[in-house]
Amino acid sequence: MTISRLSRIALGASAFAALAFAPVAGSAKPARDHQSWWKSAVIYEIYPRSFQDSNGDGIGDLNGVTQRLDYLQKLGVDAIWLTPFFPSPNADFGYDVADYTGVAPEYGTMQDWDRLTREARKRGIRVLVDFVLNHSSDQHPWFKESRSSRTNPKRDWYVWRDPAPDGGPPTNWQSIFGGSTWEYDKATHQYYYHIFLPQQPDVNWANPGLKRAMYDVMRFWLRHGASGFRLDATPYLFEDPNWPNDPEVKSGRPVWLKPYNSGLPAGNAILRDMRRIVDKAPGDAVLLGESSTATIEDLRKVYGAKSDEINLPMNFLYGNLTKLDAPTFKKQIDDAQMKLDGLPPVFFFSSHDHSRQWTSFGDGVHNDAIARVTSAMTLTLRGTALLYYGEEIGMADLPKEELQHFPLGPKRKVADNRDPERSPMQWTGDASGGFTTGAPWLPVASAARTVNVAAQIRDPASMYAWYARLLQLRRTNAALRDGAYLPLESGNPDVVAYARIDAEGRGVLVLLNMSAAPQSLSISGWRGRLPQDASVLLASPATDKIDLQAPALEPYGVQLVQFTSRR
Ligand code: GLC
Ligand code: CA
Repeated sequence: MTISRLSRIALGASAFAALAFAPVAGSAKPARDHQSWWKSAVIYEIYPRSFQDSNGDGIGDLNGVTQRLDYLQKLGVDAIWLTPFFPSPNADFGYDVADYTGVAPEYGTMQDWDRLTREARKRGIRVLVDFVLNHSSDQHPWFKESRSSRTNPKRDWYVWRDPAPDGGPPTNWQSIFGGSTWEYDKATHQYYYHIFLPQQPDVNWANPGLKRAMYDVMRFWLRHGASGFRLDATPYLFEDPNWPNDPEVKSGRPVWLKPYNSGLPAGNAILRDMRRIVDKAPGDAVLLGESSTATIEDLRKVYGAKSDEINLPMNFLYGNLTKLDAPTFKKQIDDAQMKLDGLPPVFFFSSHDHSRQWTSFGDGVHNDAIARVTSAMTLTLRGTALLYYGEEIGMADLPKEELQHFPLGPKRKVADNRDPERSPMQWTGDASGGFTTGAPWLPVASAARTVNVAAQIRDPASMYAWYARLLQLRRTNAALRDGAYLPLESGNPDVVAYARIDAEGRGVLVLLNMSAAPQSLSISGWRGRLPQDASVLLASPATDKIDLQAPALEPYGVQLVQFTSRR
């Protein structure tokens, strides 16, 4: 079976006191007491199965992540988000959870988890847990009970409906992974609802018992050192209670944004409860939301009418873009900066559901230069940035040829269209990329021979060095850290230009050439803040020349220019 690529489609304080998050003295990071850490954070997504294997079974694990915390600290990330490591039949690689408060043996133990968060805290790194709140596995004891009879007390913890009069499914709705959203249960003659796989029945958030149990899950992980959650699939918590048939089931809005299956207002109350739970935990815990929306106005609503719901809803209007096109980016960037009431936007491109940006934006010739354009953009905007493991060394999707002959087996029972972006981290140039001493669950890309951490960490011109420098600038440059966003006109349809300005009027001008040709520009929009004393902070290709009267950029060139401004 193949799972379609989601990216393409959308896709009591005191009890906690001892765990309060405080970066240790001597940590490389300056204090962030000027504002909450998450408003300008870099959150690094780790797919634990593919990051680092510590025991030679070919599957990455929690101890592997712990081994690599020094690396992450050196790179300069504020937090890591771990995709699911809970017991799971792996119909959707962990996103079908069979036990919300356990660690799957292939990833380690609860002790390993506790050590990971302890060691991360020592290094000033927070850890976010992936909370799969819309559905469980069909192997979860709750669902096994629920399906056991119509009168079981947990029957109502899931979404059960009678067949339509003709015996067919209750509605004509389609699931995001294809096929009907309804699965017939022969024993009890009803259908259960699943917006993803049949092995992922949706839970019923209208049921008070389910709600309590889920909130307890959150408190469990907060007690165990988590600094918050990445909330999976937040738009789908409720369905239209009238269960209307879809008059245009194969057209209209895409299946993951239908008005009857997503963004129903009842979900907002749940998210407010969750926000209260993280707000009560010490250390400024946070909710990062997988919150796909059709418009910027809908994205604004995900933060909550009173900004009391998801702190950080991922901006899919930006994250789903795969074509390097300056006017499109200019619009998405300006919208995110100016139509979200100043709330922190969340920028990202790559993820375990998305093609890696080195591949999706690359033209086959200038991929490295293009990756510097996309990363500079994500990392110099006001807001929070997500990185996906390996993007900092310019990892590519695993080529089809390298995956084609790789056998399915006990470590990877099903093929998934998202396998290419989930290949193991490339630490070294060895055959196994330094990921494992055994046989990896997914092939290590042959590119690891040249594209790997060991080689890049020594090379000041490497992609790793580029990312590390961008992260360092975000921390140390006041304008980039929390300065205002100033939209600019570049006077050239291939170039995106904007500036970040701090309270003292110092700023950073960002110029991004999204074309394969050299470009000259004529910048306007300074609103009286004429820049002076310009000097290059970072550029690709490297240069220290800048002429603000007539700036020029190389093909896919990037310039970050420091200036002072005079009104
Ligand atoms: C989210 C996850 C994705 C998963 C889906 C179903 O979109 O990011 O990987 O398949 O939810 O849980
Ligand atoms: Ca392992």
